[in-house]
Amino acid sequence: MPINPIPVRLELKTDEARKALEKILRAHRDFQIRSSGDPKSAELFILEIGNRPETDFALLQQILAANYGGEVFIISSSSDPSLLVQALRSGAREFLSQPIEESEVIQALERFKARREQHREGRRPHRKGKIIDLIGSKGGVGNTTIAVNLATNLAAEGSKAKVALIDMNLLFGEVPIFLDIVPIYSWGEIAKNISRLDSTFLMSVLHEHSSRVYVLPSPSQLSGHFDATPEVIERLLDLMKRVFDFIVVDSGHITDEISLKILEMADTVLVTAILSLPCLTNVSRILRLFYDLGYPPEDLVKVVINRYMKNSEISLKDAEKSIDKKIFWSIPNDFHLSMSAINQGKPLRELAANSPLSKSIQELADMLAEHKLVPEKSPTFIGRLFGQKLPLKAWRR
Ligand SMILES: Nc1ncnc2c1ncn2[C@@H]1O[C@H](COP(=O)(O)OP(=O)(O)OP(=O)(O)O)[C@@H](O)[C@H]1O
Ligand SMILES: [Mg+2]
Repeated sequence: MPINPIPVRLELKTDEARKALEKILRAHRDFQIRSSGDPKSAELFILEIGNRPETDFALLQQILAANYGGEVFIISSSSDPSLLVQALRSGAREFLSQPIEESEVIQALERFKARREQHREGRRPHRKGKIIDLIGSKGGVGNTTIAVNLATNLAAEGSKAKVALIDMNLLFGEVPIFLDIVPIYSWGEIAKNISRLDSTFLMSVLHEHSSRVYVLPSPSQLSGHFDATPEVIERLLDLMKRVFDFIVVDSGHITDEISLKILEMADTVLVTAILSLPCLTNVSRILRLFYDLGYPPEDLVKVVINRYMKNSEISLKDAEKSIDKKIFWSIPNDFHLSMSAINQGKPLRELAANSPLSKSIQELADMLAEHKLVPEKSPTFIGRLFGQKLPLKAWRR
């Protein structure tokens, strides 16, 4: 059953019609019959025209005049075409003949859903969500830790931002563990049901965490995820941008066309790394790959150093020289706290909001939220990337 099934009220005269419609509506997961309570709460009325059509049309007028905002379907056993004309003139949206044909009713319900969604989308002020894509330059650098805590900080109290967190690590996604949640659905469901994708379906698939972050985990089994294609992910992200202010994506590593599609659509790409030689070499390779691809633009790409220690053998300056790009942000090392947060399934801000680690990710989130990102002007970036050997030997012993 979706989170908010559409309430339907039946105004019927015959048992035959009631039985048939109740059976169809009970089997349809998006609708729920409301036989009592305020009729204003119903979004759809199904009204049977009996032997005294004038009285029934008067009721139809009453429902519409009360401005319930819903729609009215008419059912009738009469084949008199003037009745159909009168029903439609009176404002009924669908005319269903009796005896009830299941397929005819289902088609009418689907048309109603499409109209309702169109109406809602039209009224809703569209957000222009920003996609923040996190790419780990190597396994275990803390990509998931940063993604999870960035998302929970962006959604933190006081912020009005609506935030989603997508786990793109195929099969081994760990976001649910980091947040101690057991979501029912993954983006595999969306891939399988792409034709149904609208904001109602999207919200019913997402898992809302207590931090107000809406989580979309990765499929945990092999079956089904192959349905995902770059086109599916593009449709999903397009819709999410209309519903959310921030869509944080834990992409893990660049592995396939889907990762490339996300990169292409991202507003900010955070390449996460630690101050180690293999990691920085990978950062250089990733930057080179971006250049070869032609996207994302350089100013959208930010290198974030995790587990930073002041006495590190490789300094931030050395690192910048080696990757030929400024380090955008560095997050302090605190293995004990980060591990404790993972093991307890809690965001860092819940465990130790004032710790340097938590504060650092909060500041990073604030910067992204306040659009303080200043493009790094580096006109010679490409030339430098290709023209020079990366001075990695500088700190090689
Ligand atoms: N700032 C930090 N200081 C110390 N340890 C950290 C920090 N951030 C993360 N870690 C630790 O690094 C390990 C890996 O973290 P995480 O799972 O977030 O990395 P990842 O890049 O997502 O890994 P994977 O490649 O497996 O997906 C964890 O044990 C975590 O506790
Ligand atoms: Mg991870």
